[in-house]
Amino acid sequence: KINVWIDCDPGIDDAIALAAAAASQDALHIHGISTVAGNQTIERVTNNALALSSFLKLDVPVVRGAEGPLTRAKEDAGHVHGETGLGNTVLPKTGKQAEKGNTFQLIRDAIMNLPEDEKMTLVPVGPLTNIALLLKVYPEVNTRIKEIVLMGGGTFGNRTPTAEFNIWGDPEAAKIVFDSDLPIVMCGLDVTHKSGLDRNQVEAMFTSQNEVQKAFGDMLKFYFDSPAYINSDLVHIHDAVAVIYVTNPEIFKGIQVSVDVDCTDDINRGMTVCDLRKTAPEAGRNVTLLNDIDLTAFQNILLEKLSSL
Ligand code: BDR
Ligand code: CA
Repeated sequence: KINVWIDCDPGIDDAIALAAAAASQDALHIHGISTVAGNQTIERVTNNALALSSFLKLDVPVVRGAEGPLTRAKEDAGHVHGETGLGNTVLPKTGKQAEKGNTFQLIRDAIMNLPEDEKMTLVPVGPLTNIALLLKVYPEVNTRIKEIVLMGGGTFGNRTPTAEFNIWGDPEAAKIVFDSDLPIVMCGLDVTHKSGLDRNQVEAMFTSQNEVQKAFGDMLKFYFDSPAYINSDLVHIHDAVAVIYVTNPEIFKGIQVSVDVDCTDDINRGMTVCDLRKTAPEAGRNVTLLNDIDLTAFQNILLEKLSSL
């Protein structure tokens, strides 16, 4: 099985990513979930991660991570994900609690305690604050990370014309991660905007009699009706793309590039500067920039996973 650690800020598309992961446990060994402030405050996203993990019967540790970016003021995305972070959907209350102890030590231990011949795939789908801190505080994890499959960035933006929300939220953290030389798969907007579900597919979910389908369908309807999707036929479930890349890399296309992050306060704050030049130096091309996906295959895989829950 593929060892994974998921770092998230649920968030509606994060919730679908967790659902897709929960439905993929024949292929994935999920070692834990950490939370990071992003779409909502750390309290809210952690409560959501706990509620989701119980709802999905995903019996893994949930660790509460950073409550804000490394250096910037935090800003949520309540206008897209709602006040709670999960639209209007209220999940059953859970008695599950976040793990006690130091967040980064817990993630470090999960990685270092793997059998010697195994490595961890990190799947961060929120701002990269936790991952940057992990790499800085516990550099020994470097050689035990297989790859970082992240949702963030791209050659265009959504938070601003040039910056994607997760990278814009904590550019300094993103720079640490991209500069790490670790193999990175960037599920950025170039690929997530080519993926998603259409209105009929979402309607089939929120009108379903099945409790799980209905809950996720309701969240997706809220997301689809947010200002972000006003001119869109597809609701882009960004974070689920990263999970589906891990289970089904064959449906994606990408190119090897180097990526730098704009850490200024200027108009390009948070832009992932992807060196697409054919003449770019080979060294430093540690990022697979995903730029295409088989949409029908993606929809079939995602819907099949969700309906198995
Ligand atoms: C990213 O921003 C967040 O709002 C989503 O959860 C996703 O991780 C998309 O830009
Ligand atoms: Ca997210």
